[in-house]
Amino acid sequence: MTQASRDWWRDAVIYQVYIRSFADGNGDGEGDIAGLRERLPYVRDLGIDALWINPWYPSPLNDGGYDVADFRDIDPRFGDLVQAKSLLDEAHGLGLKVLLDIVPNHSSWDHRWFREALAAGPGSPERARYIFRDGRGPDGALPPNNWRSVFGGLAWERVTEPDGTPGQWYFHIFDVSQPDFDWENPEVRAEFLDILRFWFDLGVDGFRIDVAHGMVKNMAGPDLPYDESGLLDRPSIADHPFFDRDGVHDIYRGWREVADSYDPPRLYVAEAWVEPAERLARYLRDDELHSAFNFGYLKSAWTAADLRRSIDDSVSTLASVGAPATWVLENHDVERVVTRYGRDVTAAGTGHAGKAKGPVDVELGTRRARAAALLMLALPGGAYVYQGQELGLPEVLDLPEGSLQDPVWERSGHTERGRDGCRVPLPWSVSGSSYGFGSGGAWLPQPAGWGELSVEAEDGDPASMLSLYRDGLRLRRSIPSVEPLTWIDETADDVVAFQRGRGFACVVNLGATPSTLPAHREVILASGPLDADGRLPTDTAVWLAV
Ligand code: GLC
Repeated sequence: MTQASRDWWRDAVIYQVYIRSFADGNGDGEGDIAGLRERLPYVRDLGIDALWINPWYPSPLNDGGYDVADFRDIDPRFGDLVQAKSLLDEAHGLGLKVLLDIVPNHSSWDHRWFREALAAGPGSPERARYIFRDGRGPDGALPPNNWRSVFGGLAWERVTEPDGTPGQWYFHIFDVSQPDFDWENPEVRAEFLDILRFWFDLGVDGFRIDVAHGMVKNMAGPDLPYDESGLLDRPSIADHPFFDRDGVHDIYRGWREVADSYDPPRLYVAEAWVEPAERLARYLRDDELHSAFNFGYLKSAWTAADLRRSIDDSVSTLASVGAPATWVLENHDVERVVTRYGRDVTAAGTGHAGKAKGPVDVELGTRRARAAALLMLALPGGAYVYQGQELGLPEVLDLPEGSLQDPVWERSGHTERGRDGCRVPLPWSVSGSSYGFGSGGAWLPQPAGWGELSVEAEDGDPASMLSLYRDGLRLRRSIPSVEPLTWIDETADDVVAFQRGRGFACVVNLGATPSTLPAHREVILASGPLDADGRLPTDTAVWLAV
């Protein structure tokens, strides 16, 4: 295998499959491996390089599968290991790599280890796999400290001991059903090395690492200062007791050895919400992880100054450790870009789904999202596309309250709707049961009119988002991937314009008035029509042969 093919991930476009909402093969209203296998040709024809599949492990699905009950199996709702193997073979046969999602910070409370921990009682080796502590106060009725769950409420839950008395507390950064592992315990470390090998042996090409900045904690850390808006964000303080601690890097050095012991070597992508970019770069040192989602870019405002700053920052900081940048506009935790950019967004936000407020102009958001797609695909490094992003699906903001499933909804006391609005099952056809998602309805209600955004409706329509993504992904292959980005200075301040090598340029107009294009031979692709004088209108992007 050549170095170039070993390094496939450095400029790969990875398509995120939220399996529960992608395609339902068995008609139970939830997506599954069978549905995904049927739709693999669609994914291949998009022109992407790899899939990342969200957790498919046995799970009570209290947090959409990020509450894993068994890390070495597949939930029967999604399929089984035999089907998983067939999926891997078929994807590989189509030239697609497959990444899974590993969730090392916590398990489900249905995991065998956690049940054993509850049954075994205080001080047992079974409890030492998780983070159990005695409470404060004379009868231990007060939580060990004031730390809060990212989903709202306390990060501690009191258990009832096997003898029926109120007992110790366990720590959970996320939902109460997601107890955190104790990564100081060598048994936990060994277990995860074994889980990695299990899936690599099956043929999986790599992992997206959930909450990669979690795992290592300083449980002796102080109480934290919280403000009221903290849901889904973390307090930005230095020396945070449970995020981005230096000790986590030792774990990744061990993981990297496992990945490198395979031929071809396997890949890791970090989900690490850390700032500034220098902190993120530490995860991507030579002997650690390969790549990381660039959430700084996702969070930057739709203004030329912010985008330029974010691009410069990402490229240069990651280059310092030899890692490529990645570009992300959406995932299953953030508001769909068509909606996010349809707000009055010149202020950067967290992007987290369910948090943003205020009116949305979907037409404006769609125009911007089209321009943003061409910008993202022209930048050096890797890119991610979340299922439905290529269709221009908006966030579903009006899901009936009774259908909401994200634990954030309950834990926030019904003040935050959470992330279900970006997880609504995909529309495949213009009409019919669940718009072609499956024969048995859809686990989250799809809005009326969803069919107009279906694959069937957009396929072959040159003006559709799907056609734009297909064209962009195809033409991207001719952008010289080794060429760095150089800014074109002659354009106005509110225009983002750069070259990749001598032959290719990308120009995006974020200003209020049309902008004259730099000298070029040809317009290769445009996110919207140019004006009658050949100028680039507001919120429009072009790729140029120069
Ligand atoms: C990650 C996942 C998110 C999940 C959380 C807890 O941020 O992307 O969906 O809720 O981890 O596992």
